[in-house]
Amino acid sequence: SAMLAAGAAHAEFPERPINMVVPFAAGGPTDNVARSLAEAMRHSLGQTVVVENKGGAGGTIGTTQVARAQPDGYSVLLMHAGFSTAPSLYKNPGYDPYKSFEPIGLVVDVPMTIIARSDFPPNNIQELADYVKKNKDKVSLANAGIGAASHLCGTMLVEALGVQLLTIPYKGTAPAMNDLLGKQVDLLCDQTTNTTQQIDSGKVKAYAVTSLQRVPTLPKLPTMDESGFKGFEVGIWHGMWVPKGTPKPVVDKLVKSLQAGLADPKFQERMKQLGATVLTADANPQALDAKVKQQVPQWAELFKKAGVEQQ
Ligand code: MLT
Repeated sequence: SAMLAAGAAHAEFPERPINMVVPFAAGGPTDNVARSLAEAMRHSLGQTVVVENKGGAGGTIGTTQVARAQPDGYSVLLMHAGFSTAPSLYKNPGYDPYKSFEPIGLVVDVPMTIIARSDFPPNNIQELADYVKKNKDKVSLANAGIGAASHLCGTMLVEALGVQLLTIPYKGTAPAMNDLLGKQVDLLCDQTTNTTQQIDSGKVKAYAVTSLQRVPTLPKLPTMDESGFKGFEVGIWHGMWVPKGTPKPVVDKLVKSLQAGLADPKFQERMKQLGATVLTADANPQALDAKVKQQVPQWAELFKKAGVEQQ
């Protein structure tokens, strides 16, 4: 009937569960943020948010999957700073950071930590600098693929130390951490959302944090900046996107739900425990759009300087 048709046309989004794609392995830093957020957003959406881990190629595979999904609001991407590095690192990243998505908003900002297997000889960052110079081509560094946060930080570390390291790629830093715990690999630069617990329990050796200020949850760890690497700073912002062409009312609903999720005390407490800062004031499309426009050229510049070639 006409009334039913009208009712269907005005059906409220969302009518079924939402798929949140994390372009890295389960149990890692991005996944930890996504699962807390999915739970926090469920209340305002009135629907379940299901996290799908689609790792590989530094996050570009999962990101591309969302770029190509139906623009109906049921496919959401939770990705980090690596979103803006793909155009300078890959000839065909599979998506265009400026054209393939509608931004929803910024989510959290996460500092990184430089860590090693527990029996790795150097005991501080200065000893590490000496050690890698004396053991050229022998020290291995895990990462989550070209363009991942761990790769960005690793590239800066190699630059700072002035020595090449053997890099070993994984589908996320969860499996990289497993190999670090199993002493299969020497070093990893990874977000506090994956490393805090392992550092606290002494299962890995920690050298420094990559923020300019010390991290309140890891007060004993010096910053790179105060350890003689002046200006060494990397923070991993996270954002949420939906495919280009998603209807405005659906985008608006997701923005409201993201804001409600970030305000959830449980989400805030969990992020605090993991050393992450909740970006409440920037949880909107304008702020995320501005962030991407600022970050794409900034990373392109760093890779050019570091001589990192396109894949
Ligand atoms: C992950 O979730 O595995 C990470 O964010 C990986 C990374 O970007 O280093």
